[in-house]
Amino acid sequence: MSWRADVLTIFPSMFPGPLGESLAGKAMEAGTWSLKVTDIRDFGLGRHRSVDDTPFGGGAGMVMRPDVLDAAIGSVADATPGSSADATPGSAADERPLIVLTPRGKPLTQKRVRELAEGPGVILLCGRFEGIDQRVIDARQAEEISIGDYVLSGGEIASLVLLDAAIRLLPGVMGAADSAVEESFSAPLLEYPHYTRPAIWADRAVPETLTSGNHAAIAAWRLAAARQTTKTRRPDLYNQYIASGAQAP
Ligand code: ADE
Repeated sequence: MSWRADVLTIFPSMFPGPLGESLAGKAMEAGTWSLKVTDIRDFGLGRHRSVDDTPFGGGAGMVMRPDVLDAAIGSVADATPGSSADATPGSAADERPLIVLTPRGKPLTQKRVRELAEGPGVILLCGRFEGIDQRVIDARQAEEISIGDYVLSGGEIASLVLLDAAIRLLPGVMGAADSAVEESFSAPLLEYPHYTRPAIWADRAVPETLTSGNHAAIAAWRLAAARQTTKTRRPDLYNQYIASGAQAP
């Protein structure tokens, strides 16, 4: 069965967006993965199909209502742990994790992306307004994930980021079969810099070693460059790398 993504959002027209193009778009056409987008407003209340309300305790902005979100989640999950309302008799429980994209979440890592790509898919809930009522997150045992220490206007773009990162790892999606293996964050060093023709451009020559044909020297040059870049840009990753047993140069 193909990898299944469900997205719950009040801006359904933001999907598939960039995921309809390039590698992800081709993989979707090939049936490697599928996307279903649900408009949370379809579960909104009253004439205005309202999905949010003012926060208890006061403060700025609006909070997404737990009853509305729970109904939306129930409509996509085959049968979800933590809720009794929507278990479809006879259907297997939905094994996909429910993920809420929020700047309060745990940082997304390549390790988690790899685990998600190896699983059956994801159900993504995009937060808007000031946040989501915590009770629905708790009741549905949702995993809160952040894509970085900055604040987006909602979880939609974060969902696109998470999906893009996972889809490229699905079997048969990536062009060069082993480019995922060598690249950054698996290493855990940042990647070495890349060069192609022309060998001299704008008075700048390609590092001599790379044109030498000496494969051992090229590998050593690349490792040294990766270490140097990581040490200056990401001392946190560099320290992990050294702590994991690599020799300091
Ligand atoms: N929604 C708003 N900001 C976000 C972030 N940094 N990560 C995930 N979801 C978000």
